Amino acid sequence: MARDGAVYVCQSCGAVQSKWAGQCPACNAWNSLVEETQSRAPGSLAPSKASRVRGLTFQGLEEHTPPPPRIATGVDEFDRVCGGGIVPGSAILLGGDPGVGKSTLLMQVAAQAARRGVRCAYISGEEAIEQVRGRAQRMGLADAPVKLATETALREILDSLKREPFDLVVIDSIQTMWSDAHEAAPGSVTQVRAAAGELVRLAKKRGVAVILVGHVTKEGTIAGPRVIEHMVDAVLSFEGERGYPFRILRGAKNRFGATDEIGVFEMGDAGLGEVKNPSALFLDTSGERAAGAAVFAGIEGSRPVLVEFQALVAPSAYGTPRRAVVGWDTGRLAMVLAVLETRCGLSLGNRDVYLNVAGGLRINEPAADLAAAAALASSALDVALPQDCVVFGEISLSGDIRHVSRMESRMKEAAKLGFKRALAPKELDGGGLMKVDGVARLADAVRRIGDGEWG
Ligand code: TYD
Ligand code: MG
Repeated sequence: MARDGAVYVCQSCGAVQSKWAGQCPACNAWNSLVEETQSRAPGSLAPSKASRVRGLTFQGLEEHTPPPPRIATGVDEFDRVCGGGIVPGSAILLGGDPGVGKSTLLMQVAAQAARRGVRCAYISGEEAIEQVRGRAQRMGLADAPVKLATETALREILDSLKREPFDLVVIDSIQTMWSDAHEAAPGSVTQVRAAAGELVRLAKKRGVAVILVGHVTKEGTIAGPRVIEHMVDAVLSFEGERGYPFRILRGAKNRFGATDEIGVFEMGDAGLGEVKNPSALFLDTSGERAAGAAVFAGIEGSRPVLVEFQALVAPSAYGTPRRAVVGWDTGRLAMVLAVLETRCGLSLGNRDVYLNVAGGLRINEPAADLAAAAALASSALDVALPQDCVVFGEISLSGDIRHVSRMESRMKEAAKLGFKRALAPKELDGGGLMKVDGVARLADAVRRIGDGEWG
């Protein structure tokens, strides 16, 4: 039986149970329930004293609220993902795998901002001051007036932040913070939630922007910090494929901006470099493009990005053919393979299929269907696409090629990088930018690739 006031909180999803169980009934995670004492049931409010009730002041929709002011940190790729700078008094959660470069990024952000006169504090609960300082020095940021501290006790942090005025405070990481008002261990859901709650409250009350670092677990969820996503104004995730220097900053939630913006960085010896022209980075323009390669003209956030899809269709050595995909959705690959098989007469069922998005970028757009299909067909038929050709278009289950968003921006970017033709949906006007090889059906595209018929 649970002790008085004791509850069991799932460390994976945050669900609260009255009894311990080996598996969380809410999210089915195993061994994730941990006993924590709660002083008050969640959601229960102390009864209000009648004299203190003021009632609500309702307002109309038409009143004009000026847009919030922004702190431009000077790291443009970061500022853009935030929606044009950090909003004072806002709370931002930055999630990412351990080692992806969260501390590096935020030290750069804090240092650049501090150089521009923003009062910045960097509080680390994970590393010793020498480590944090050493990193900053290696990146050539030693002259920036950032105030460093190492602390994990929330009370100390809050007291200091109340005494000294700051514009921007980085807390690295929220999992290391603990509040003495709770018995639970640091890193537990209760502690993470309590610490985040206090810091967010401080941010709002004093107009300090707070950035919380949160580590992500193997499953891709922000463990612990996932339960604070609803408390913060923005959730950003920092991603990168192992073995590639590229890092992508994505907005998953943003109360003050669009969430589809990305920031592109390259990890080097002196920290993260901003990549202003991602197309040139993800695209290998040297040498011939081989059979199995197709250049996709994509859109990431508000920017067009060209990336290469690489496919290899090979005889299967074992009974069950392999399907491996990096940087694209497995379900989408299965769909495209099925359409190629049933509507275009390409037999792929008993062959191994590998599909790879070059450069470590992850593509989620349906517009990439035709590029993936073109790469697969090109490999299966062993015919290379023309060097100067980009591809985009959505494939429906019937094998039709559909129009996609912002086709002109895609072609403009491709033209800028020297591409001259587009394998794209039919009835698309190239607008003098490029020659459009329009296809109404995937079968037409496959036939064109096989015959090498490019007018
Ligand atoms: P870090 O910011 O400590 O990651 P996180 O805070 O997300 O855990 O970055 C760790 C990695 O970055 C580490 O493997 C070393 C690499 N790195 C560089 O390659 N160059 C640099 O200039 C810095 C500071 C780090
Ligand atoms: Mg770190």
